[in-house]
Amino acid sequence: MQIQDIPKAELHLHIEGTLEPELMMQLAKRNGVAIPYKSVDEIRKAYEFSDLQSFLDIYYAGAAVLQTRQDFYDLTWAYLERAAADNVRHVEIFFDPQTHTERGIAFDVVLDGIHDALEAGESKLGITSRLILCFLRHLSADEAMATLELALPHTDRIHAVGLDSSEVGHPPSKFTEVFDRARDAGFLSVAHAGEEGPPEYIVEALDLLHVRRIDHGVRCLEDAALVERLVREQIPLTVCPLSNVKLRVFDTLAEHNLAKLLDAGLCVTINSDDPAYFGGYIGENFVQTQKALALNAQQLKTLAENAFKASFLPADDIERHLADVDAAFNATPA
Ligand code: ADE
Ligand code: ZN
Repeated sequence: MQIQDIPKAELHLHIEGTLEPELMMQLAKRNGVAIPYKSVDEIRKAYEFSDLQSFLDIYYAGAAVLQTRQDFYDLTWAYLERAAADNVRHVEIFFDPQTHTERGIAFDVVLDGIHDALEAGESKLGITSRLILCFLRHLSADEAMATLELALPHTDRIHAVGLDSSEVGHPPSKFTEVFDRARDAGFLSVAHAGEEGPPEYIVEALDLLHVRRIDHGVRCLEDAALVERLVREQIPLTVCPLSNVKLRVFDTLAEHNLAKLLDAGLCVTINSDDPAYFGGYIGENFVQTQKALALNAQQLKTLAENAFKASFLPADDIERHLADVDAAFNATPA
């Protein structure tokens, strides 16, 4: 069996991070937006990052080409087609409304475009989905609260809230009240923590934001008591191996701690984060990580199962997907 054929769920994917250079150029032309690149090659060459912030600067600038409902549809549809090629069956997608509302794009334009594509993804590609609104943690808690207000009429289309952007210096505790209000409104929650930030941020995300999953979380291994708790409570970690190398969290994929996280009994999943910027979609993350860490078939199966178990799908859907994973691995050994 090929890794590509494993039924997958993707739980850590920023839709703005799927903006391929070709689409960026096309939308810049379509919308008359000036970008500091003359060609697709020039854009690709700019994607050398020294840390999270050096990436975020380029990523937020690139998002300026996204203007209309059709643009957000095209962006999301292109991702879904790519995901289908990797046998992705379910996606839980982040979007960053503040990146767009700050530029004068209406919240509903963003949400409607993404949502239309997600509906088409289910009817045409059979990919189910959930949408997660992320607050930008480098902005204030008041701004996050104002963004939450915009989301309140859309609990039918937005399933959960999350927290992303520049981690260090912006601990989860800054957003305790925002997440309290979000949970009262019926949203589930997740948060980026322990990517560049310390293990204490993971503890805060659990204790103060009451998150269901930790996005990244790779620095948890620095705190043995935290690891024990994450294992005991089976809190999923949505790990993004190629992202971690591109943003220099690990120097090489061979040095990534994913196998150690699995060995410790943590509920680890593999995801692509911002695939247009980091050199690979979920299938490529599986393939390259398997190779670099010599993951065996059982480990690959566990990773695939964990993603469905960690999803926000109802229990009977999870069971159905787990049976599909089992069938794929039973068909021929990996
Ligand atoms: N936004 C998009 N990708 C991100 C990442 N890897 N960490 C934090 N914020 C992000
Ligand atoms: Zn992320």
